Amino acid sequence: MDRLVLSEGLRRRYDVALVVDFGGQYAHLIARRLREQGVYAEIVPYDAATPEHLGEVGAKLLVLSGGPSSVYTPGAPLIDPSILEGDVPVLGICYGHQLIAKLLGGRVRRGRGEYGRTLVKIVEDDPLFEGWGEEEYVWMSHADYVAEPPPGFKVLAVSENGYIAAMRHSEKPIYGVQFHPEVKHTPKGAAMLHNYAYRIAGVSRTWRAENLVGVLVSEIRERVGERGKVLVAVSGGVDSTVVAVLVKKAVGRRLVAVFVDHGLLREGEAKEVLEALRGLGIEPVFVDARERFLSRLVGVEDCEERRRIIGEEFARIFREIVERDPEIRWLAQGTTYPDIIESGAVKGADRIKSHHNVAGLPSWLGLDVLEPIKYFYKDEVRRIAEALGIPHRIVYRHPFPGPGLAVRVMGRFTLEKLEIARRASRIVEEELRRAGLYRDVWQAFAVVGDDKWVGVKGDQRSVGYVVTVRIVESEDAMTADWARLPAEVLDKISRRITSEIPEVAMVTYAVTTKPPSTIEPC
Ligand code: XMP
Repeated sequence: MDRLVLSEGLRRRYDVALVVDFGGQYAHLIARRLREQGVYAEIVPYDAATPEHLGEVGAKLLVLSGGPSSVYTPGAPLIDPSILEGDVPVLGICYGHQLIAKLLGGRVRRGRGEYGRTLVKIVEDDPLFEGWGEEEYVWMSHADYVAEPPPGFKVLAVSENGYIAAMRHSEKPIYGVQFHPEVKHTPKGAAMLHNYAYRIAGVSRTWRAENLVGVLVSEIRERVGERGKVLVAVSGGVDSTVVAVLVKKAVGRRLVAVFVDHGLLREGEAKEVLEALRGLGIEPVFVDARERFLSRLVGVEDCEERRRIIGEEFARIFREIVERDPEIRWLAQGTTYPDIIESGAVKGADRIKSHHNVAGLPSWLGLDVLEPIKYFYKDEVRRIAEALGIPHRIVYRHPFPGPGLAVRVMGRFTLEKLEIARRASRIVEEELRRAGLYRDVWQAFAVVGDDKWVGVKGDQRSVGYVVTVRIVESEDAMTADWARLPAEVLDKISRRITSEIPEVAMVTYAVTTKPPSTIEPC
């Protein structure tokens, strides 16, 4: 669909690290860590990691990610072993490490396993561990282990439990590590990846997303050419705002920015977004569609059904706009890198919620699609946004789902519960900002369902709603942890919600990580 060929440009401009994805969430974390070190990293599903693909991308280094499988399970993901025979350095992590052992003639066995913080001892000097002490803590998560390294390999590090923690080929740059250098719980993990990229693989052209504004603008200008308008659906979030500003810079008045108020926005958001866009020189078409959306949503119980209705209504609005203005030929969307990789690139990755059906507009609009930020992670989009002069209030605003507060009301959708979720969420945000914690967390909001609790107000007993506060830390929404906030902040939030929203009798705090839970309630 997307015809923007940015990745080819990026591949020419930078040394490419190719991260081979064996499933789970590991590959994105590895790619992000490499990019934080200034290394341009792309992800490839394991079954597409062929020697031809390596050549096409011009891979300077390879990383084989971890994954949920065991190398001995029938149907376990494998790679073409010839990619281990070329000159491109290879680093296998966890499953990748075991796979190297298996493919090159070592032995992998099932053991007691090691989970969590583990001490490892470096037994052989190597540039990979430059800057490491003789003993360091790392993060382990494995049951299988390499019982015998392949011929020609030597052991570089051993864990406190006697397992091989790192190995390398004696002559060739092929490495395997049993631990996870990409997680923050391996304090020297980033340094190790830095050593691998710069000392071993010789990366020299440093990647910085924010330096690419000029390239992005000229790519858009080139693609769109001299004629035709570009439609951008702006939501007030950082992704669509960045896209709108880039398109504005590329084609000026041929940008048609549309902002739809579906009645499911955060309190005060519509006004704030309009003001911010105007401050950036963008005058959006404002569609007040509150009545249109809400009248169809009231009474609907199932969240997926609500998503479908919202998607349909959005599509109708955009069709009306496109039909009125035949000069509109392009649609620019704020798709980001996790979206394109998540969208079924890796076999067996289940779709839990139908997010992107809502975020993306349908192909029957008949427009050519531009996705100018599709190779970037959120933190990179934020840096581009800063470089574009987008106000911090937007750059660091928490991500917000396309269907908005519709996914924060559980049970039957009612306008009463919608208002409770909206007002309680505003209080949560205000208190976080007041405590200086807003930017430390990924998302923070309140949800409401049909559960009731008995309250005492004055001498009166009254039954009120239970509101659940959800505040999470995350790097990319794929995994999340609940925020360990000071008790006083939670106390303040709870007091304000019950006193300012009389319909609420109880405030609870959600303390389940993702997985097994999701971030939004439905
Ligand atoms: P979950 O709830 O699946 O959410 O852990 C992961 C991230 O996605 C956001 N989210 C959505 N975004 N449309 C969107 O555009 C949706 O329907 C939707 N549902 C969840 C959620 O806010 C979190 O950041």
